[in-house]
Amino acid sequence: MKPVALVTGAAGLIGGYLVRTAPCWVPDWEVRGMTRAEVDLTDRTQAERLWERHRPDLVIHCAALSRTGLCEQNPAQARLINVEATRFLADLAKDVPFIFLSTDQVFDGAKGRYVETDAVHPLNVYGKTKAEAEQVVLANPAHTVVRIALTAGMSPTRDRSFVEDMVRTAAKGVTLTLFTDEFRCPLPAGALVRALWEIGLQGPPGLYHLGGYERLSRWEIGKLLSARFPELRSSIQPGSVADYHGPPRPPDLSMCSDKIQALLSFRLPGFRQWLTEKPSDGDDPWNYPPAVAR
Ligand SMILES: NC(=O)c1ccc[n+]([C@@H]2O[C@H](COP(=O)([O-])OP(=O)(O)OC[C@H]3O[C@@H](n4cnc5c(N)ncnc54)[C@H](OP(=O)(O)O)[C@@H]3O)[C@@H](O)[C@H]2O)c1
Repeated sequence: MKPVALVTGAAGLIGGYLVRTAPCWVPDWEVRGMTRAEVDLTDRTQAERLWERHRPDLVIHCAALSRTGLCEQNPAQARLINVEATRFLADLAKDVPFIFLSTDQVFDGAKGRYVETDAVHPLNVYGKTKAEAEQVVLANPAHTVVRIALTAGMSPTRDRSFVEDMVRTAAKGVTLTLFTDEFRCPLPAGALVRALWEIGLQGPPGLYHLGGYERLSRWEIGKLLSARFPELRSSIQPGSVADYHGPPRPPDLSMCSDKIQALLSFRLPGFRQWLTEKPSDGDDPWNYPPAVAR
């Protein structure tokens, strides 16, 4: 019998890639993806039933309220999903490896190039709930938190990733203002999930940063994307966060991923490199080419 890995949030962007890529990266495991339709993780009884049914040997917990705007609108719901559901599941998984996906948004963006030992200071509800959940998870020394960067990919519902958001907004004829002074380390979903599988199966537990090696402004990201998605070309314009009037935005959420990189069997790509070296896997440009894997 194969060991069982449980992936929560399987209808979402990253959970979807974890399940789809499992035959390539973890062929000796049985990977079971759980969607909200199958289990509401905020309901402790449902979470316990899930546990009894599957008895997994590894959990990768992707389920979350991940949209910052929705978290601002409903902080109680954000806390219930992002903190309390994580607590239920981490309790149930106390004796097995448990990987919790956190975010670069636990930082305030004042410093940039963040390392794992930097102090957190989230500016928004999403980041606050994730920072709180990190403490819950790391209370068990056998468990792992991976803070991931902005992730490019194609979700099962085609409406989750920032790339899908941009393309959809452009299709409505809306002009997107992309800041030249707001920085991230974006990563394609295919490379991200390959790293998650490796760290889940072999990595020592603890806290890791996982992003692409290039620090890019939102404007640079948009220009690179418009080479692959021509419909963006006439819809993006540069702007400055100094002219933005709204809830606080962390200006520089770039992260240093050297700690996880030292444990991986492959080089984490930069976003520019990814987009210029045309991936070979079918029509999903964000998949990690299986040809490279074998
Ligand atoms: N994508 C990124 O750029 C990024 C960056 C940093 C960190 N992260 C983190 O990485 C993880 C995965 O992100 P993602 O982009 O894949 O998010 P996503 O596409 O929003 O997927 C999250 C999934 O969680 C499910 N979910 C929500 N509430 C639930 C509940 N009560 N019970 C069970 N399932 C529930 C959602 O179900 P529905 O489909 O029904 O809504 C959704 O399928 C999240 O923790 C996110 O915070 C993502």
